[in-house]
Amino acid sequence: MKLLILDILQSNKYNYVSGEDISKTLGVTRAAIWKYIKSLQEEGYVIESSPRKGYKLTFAPSKLSIDKLTSNLSENTLVKKILYFDTIESTNDYCKKNSENIQNGTIVLTDHQLKGRGRFDRNWFSPKGKGIYCSIYLKPELSPYEISKITSITCAAIIEVLHSYNIDAKVKWPNDIYINNKKIGGILTEMKGDMDRINYLIIGFGLNVNQESFEFPEEISSIATSLKTVYNKDFNRELLLTDILNKLENFYNNFSENFNFEYPLRVLRNNSYVINKSVTLIKGKELIQGKVINLGENGELIIERNGKTESVFSGEISLKINS
Ligand code: BTN
Repeated sequence: MKLLILDILQSNKYNYVSGEDISKTLGVTRAAIWKYIKSLQEEGYVIESSPRKGYKLTFAPSKLSIDKLTSNLSENTLVKKILYFDTIESTNDYCKKNSENIQNGTIVLTDHQLKGRGRFDRNWFSPKGKGIYCSIYLKPELSPYEISKITSITCAAIIEVLHSYNIDAKVKWPNDIYINNKKIGGILTEMKGDMDRINYLIIGFGLNVNQESFEFPEEISSIATSLKTVYNKDFNRELLLTDILNKLENFYNNFSENFNFEYPLRVLRNNSYVINKSVTLIKGKELIQGKVINLGENGELIIERNGKTESVFSGEISLKINS
């Protein structure tokens, strides 16, 4: 029934169809129609309703084309396999739960996450058909100490690609992508391993692409944004994702084969949202106030406080910008 209602709305896109007409055509009550409309809205369809005019479909979530991505990425040596889900709890969680069964180089993609996660177990807003929600499962021969550099490399790859679209994106150390002083993306790198080796690594990244500003939940609406909100147009998610994965392949291979971190580091230094700013670092229960001087050779934060400089490596730090 839901699909029949959708069919009627889609064939009248941008025009109202009265609840009565739908009800007569399909032989169901108007209350039942309202229930199906609500369920479609929850799936990401934007349907305006007016008590006098009825219902109007203004946006239907698009689906990532895996055929397109598979052909775009056929030469990408990082991408060995693509797994796609219409809806999933979290792409990072999928990799974790299936870590014994999935192969090195698997990319897990979805159009919708029910429990998208950010750092510190924060929610990652993942509405259907609007964003990029991607996890890369890898088994690198790297020391666990190199993990923070992988986050840095991923940030740098996303920044370079956004710049190639003339988007002035910045990095809020260590893993946030910012545009116009608001967050549009984040990276969640997780791993299993011991002191000497990494068993597996998951690079999860999320990018707010085609979300409308009004769609963001109230609690993040003042701090989060999307490419569509800023540039007032839809972006092609397949192309953006292809470009990011190709750039990441380049940075990652250079790093894992030649330990070349210089170029991504330069990208991060040149596009930092925090260098030369006074910040408050929240490290557990401790608050550290200081000025960010630079990023160190390993991507760590170098801050100055009380006339001394110190390096901050820990991923367990969040950062509030004072000025
Ligand atoms: C953050 O900003 O704290 C990191 C956000 C990471 C979100 C991505 S979306 C794809 C992947 N799956 C998740 O559950 N989280 C990451």
